[in-house]
Amino acid sequence: MSIISVINQKGGVAKTTTSLNVASSWAAQGKKVLLIDLDPQSSATKAVFGDREFEKTIYDVIMGHAQAEDAIVSSDVFGIDVIPAEIMLSGVDLQLAAHFGREQILRRKLEPLNRRYDAILIDCSPSLGLMTINALLASKDIIIPICPEYFSLKGIDLILATLQNIRTGLGYKVGIRGVVITRYRDRKVAKDVIRQVREHYQLNVYSNYIPDSIAVEEAHHNHSPVHKYAPRSPASKAYMDLSKELWL
Ligand SMILES: Nc1ncnc2c1ncn2[C@@H]1O[C@H](COP(=O)(O)OP(=O)(O)O)[C@@H](O)[C@H]1O
Ligand SMILES: [Mg+2]
Repeated sequence: MSIISVINQKGGVAKTTTSLNVASSWAAQGKKVLLIDLDPQSSATKAVFGDREFEKTIYDVIMGHAQAEDAIVSSDVFGIDVIPAEIMLSGVDLQLAAHFGREQILRRKLEPLNRRYDAILIDCSPSLGLMTINALLASKDIIIPICPEYFSLKGIDLILATLQNIRTGLGYKVGIRGVVITRYRDRKVAKDVIRQVREHYQLNVYSNYIPDSIAVEEAHHNHSPVHKYAPRSPASKAYMDLSKELWL
């Protein structure tokens, strides 16, 4: 079992889309997967469940009002379990400001679930707040989605600095599994950025790039993973192949 955070402080780089589609592709490949929505905007929760409301969310788990197990909701369409988020999550940084051990709440809360899943994916928010620190301290590794544009390298610099801070400040080393290329279009800038990530940053870039595709967006709005919404689309194949590549 491994816990993996999907992280990038830049918004709109397909963190949520990648979390959902990788989780669902893994499920289709026979894995038992839990997706944790750790973004107060709740994009993953809304993509899976629409406007449904939940009695317990990750907010209650973090605040100590519920066990992680009690907040799990299953999705037949995605084939995964989800711990939903809610907007109240945006207040936890202040609410927990004086709480001893506040960086490791999520890690401790997930311990009882370890044996129930093949993988736990955490969809992070773009902020570098307490919840993202919690996600990192709960994770063995991270996956970094990027839309390959020139300023996407800034996002990588920020992530590397954050991991370094956690290592020096809290003594915990988070691994980087690799970089996922999302919304790929065959342009010079994309190739330049990918080459820099490999050569300058020495990071693993997964060879299955996710193409910029209307099917991905439509699947999202239809509360479906792309492999079900448009099974024959190149994006569906890309997420399926990426998921196999990520599992290795
Ligand atoms: N491969 C893709 N092709 C087209 N649109 C995409 C693709 N991946 C993501 N999107 C769209 O980009 C927007 C931002 O994606 P999202 O996953 O919410 O990013 P993040 O979680 O990093 O903020 C969404 O509207 C999503 O539908
Ligand atoms: Mg998101």
